[in-house]
Amino acid sequence: MNDRPAANLLIRIDPRAHDPLQYQIYRGIRRAILAGVATPGTRLPSSRALADDLRVSRTTAMLALEQLLSEGYLATRRGAGTFVAEDLPDDLPSVPAGEQTRTTRRAPRPTRRWLSRRGAVLAAAPQGAQRLVGPPRAFRVGTPGIDLFPITLWQRIVNRRPRSIPAAHLDYGDAAGLRPLREAIAGHVQMARGTQCSADQIVVVAGAQQGLDLICRVLLDPGDRVWMEEPGYPGARSALLGSGARIVPVRVDAEGLDVRSGARRAGDARLVYVTPSHQYPLGVPMSLPRRLALLKWAAAARAWVIEDDYDSEFRYATRAIPCLHGLDSDGRVIYVGSFSKTLFPALRLGFVIVPNALQDRLAAARRVADQHPPALEQAVLADFILDGHFSRHLRRMRMAYRERLEALTAAAARFCRGALTLRAVRTGLHAVADLDGIDAFRVSVEAAKRGIEATPLAAYFAQPTRATNGLVLGFAVVRPDVSYRGMERLAAAMAAASR
Ligand SMILES: Cc1ncc(COP(=O)(O)O)c(C=O)c1O
Repeated sequence: MNDRPAANLLIRIDPRAHDPLQYQIYRGIRRAILAGVATPGTRLPSSRALADDLRVSRTTAMLALEQLLSEGYLATRRGAGTFVAEDLPDDLPSVPAGEQTRTTRRAPRPTRRWLSRRGAVLAAAPQGAQRLVGPPRAFRVGTPGIDLFPITLWQRIVNRRPRSIPAAHLDYGDAAGLRPLREAIAGHVQMARGTQCSADQIVVVAGAQQGLDLICRVLLDPGDRVWMEEPGYPGARSALLGSGARIVPVRVDAEGLDVRSGARRAGDARLVYVTPSHQYPLGVPMSLPRRLALLKWAAAARAWVIEDDYDSEFRYATRAIPCLHGLDSDGRVIYVGSFSKTLFPALRLGFVIVPNALQDRLAAARRVADQHPPALEQAVLADFILDGHFSRHLRRMRMAYRERLEALTAAAARFCRGALTLRAVRTGLHAVADLDGIDAFRVSVEAAKRGIEATPLAAYFAQPTRATNGLVLGFAVVRPDVSYRGMERLAAAMAAASR
């Protein structure tokens, strides 16, 4: 074994750079591996030593190491630490251009660039919520109550549909989506989200994620500056990074995105990504003064605003807050909606409401990507909405989620009092919990050993600090009895992590 000390990796980080610190560390170590400076079997320092060495938080160092572990660059050996993987794939890319430094020796590996810059960025895209292999379990984030989905009803509509589909619908269709579905969506957002739009403004997409990706491709050039909520949704961060944008993290406080801070830091930004109805992951709604300030700034700066309205249908203590799109009189807001939380994620259907001038452009980009979503699924979804099943399902799920949230709250009070404090949940499918003095990453690792998922809040930050020591706990897919047992295990995980 090659016990080369990690100092030889000579990672350089720049706290003023726009790239998150953990990404800089990740990139530094990966560069050393690709360049052959850190050969298979080289032992890496512990996250604690790495953090001390680089003067970053332990969380930041852990995030970088975990990313490298999950991509197979590193491996752990029980009790011995973390090493450069012995079985690195033969077709590893060489050091991406622009990443070579005077300190890295050239590898005996192929020197030609293998991945594009975009490819390398996408390969290193942030992962977000912790997920163990296998079916949903306590406290999975991002999965709605799929156990309660009326699958028999859905299946009936699926079976019925092919008989009523005209042959013409088997041909290539409209890149913006099936007309009846677009009309059904326009009707739904008008009723439920307090905004006006015509079916012509709607582009049906394969989930919100494809919507975000398409918008970034169509509107951003490499180097453009964009505001991103800090903390924020990793999927949006990946789409922004994939388009070459320079992300400016803008802090979120009790009123949502801090518009003044964004304007100070990047007044020339071309785009802003926000989740105003239910900030992801903190859960706060954006206040009206902040919404108005954001729209005013965007109009003056001629910047675009992406409103990601991924789960606002589920409210427990507040009345519906109309979406930002409904307040926009300048056509700067692009609304992204999804059926992943309201129905089920594997459906892969969502929609974008675009200003008229953009509709054709987005549809054109859609044609390059995958032409359009499958026609049958779109037709089934249109029937599901128009026959009234969608609003019935939302009502039923709202009640079920309220019950599941109450179960989570009661179980936390029973098993984790004093160690874990749940923040108030007004909307959505997950809760944020603050931890008192126990490291969230260690809790997450101990929780995984006990078969439960507890995502560190820090995973959603580009620049985590000590103040971000908390967990994100999903409750939507967790039955009350499972929540109870899960919380018991989480308490055991916290006890183990604090030893
Ligand atoms: C904030 C946010 N936006 C978008 C999405 C992506 O949704 P979709 O499954 O429609 O791509 C998610 C999924 O968890 C999300 O949490």
